[in-house]
Amino acid sequence: MGEFSGQVALITGAASGIGLFIAHKLLAEGARVGLLDFNESALQKAFESYGSKALLIGIDVTNEKLVNQSVIQVNTQFGQIDCLINCAGITGITNTQSHDVSSENLHKVFEVNFMSSFYTSKAVLPLMLARNYGRILHIASIAGKEGNAGMLAYSASKAAVICMAKVQGKEYAERGITVNALAPAVIQTPLVDAMPEVQVKYMTDKIPMKRCGTLDEVANLAAYIVSPKNSFTTGFTFDLSGGRATY
Ligand SMILES: NC(=O)c1ccc[n+]([C@@H]2O[C@H](COP(=O)([O-])OP(=O)(O)OC[C@H]3O[C@@H](n4cnc5c(N)ncnc54)[C@H](O)[C@@H]3O)[C@@H](O)[C@H]2O)c1
Repeated sequence: MGEFSGQVALITGAASGIGLFIAHKLLAEGARVGLLDFNESALQKAFESYGSKALLIGIDVTNEKLVNQSVIQVNTQFGQIDCLINCAGITGITNTQSHDVSSENLHKVFEVNFMSSFYTSKAVLPLMLARNYGRILHIASIAGKEGNAGMLAYSASKAAVICMAKVQGKEYAERGITVNALAPAVIQTPLVDAMPEVQVKYMTDKIPMKRCGTLDEVANLAAYIVSPKNSFTTGFTFDLSGGRATY
């Protein structure tokens, strides 16, 4: 019997990196999962061996209508949704100062990083309220706490995510639902691989432990945050930055 036996988790961005690791961790701990990502073939490759325990849904999470339909689909198949973990995210264009940032890029990054997390949480909250239980985790970033130079769109969108966790944490605090964020520094994933080397060096140089975080470290902390054990912490942004943020 794993820690998540009998529980159902909805995870976005599960086809790669952090979302993929968290999904494997919760499945290993007994959860059934609904996994959303627009890379459907990667979802299938990674999770088809779990059979009916993993419902794989290939959608763009910036499409509110499709998000709503997916939440209904997961709830219908599994009967409940205990945890929501928002991992889908993009950096957009980086290594660019604010006077050169395109409005189009800024809008796009906000759509994926902030609006999609709003859509999924808005859709699952009524289900959680009906059961007086829920755990929501928004994956933010250290960039949202500190503001990384060259990353206006990404940093500001993650600050918005952190603030959404603060607001939602307070709103549902008396209803058995916790809403938290997690702010990693650098974790080596395809998202980081795609960034300019100079931007990655800027971020890793700031980590006192002088190394990147591992996917296991993210998945272990995320699993705690969405577990029943995490019952007295809400609206909080957990740190995972190797000592960069001490607040
Ligand atoms: N890797 C890091 O160093 C790091 C640090 C801090 C925060 N984060 C955050 O963690 C989260 C996961 O990042 P990662 O490093 O695992 O990235 P990743 O690129 O490995 O994975 C992101 C996943 O999101 C999916 N995705 C992106 N846009 C989508 C959309 N519109 N609809 C559906 N799916 C979409 C991608 O297909 C991909 O599978 C992101 O929110 C990222 O900002 C990452």
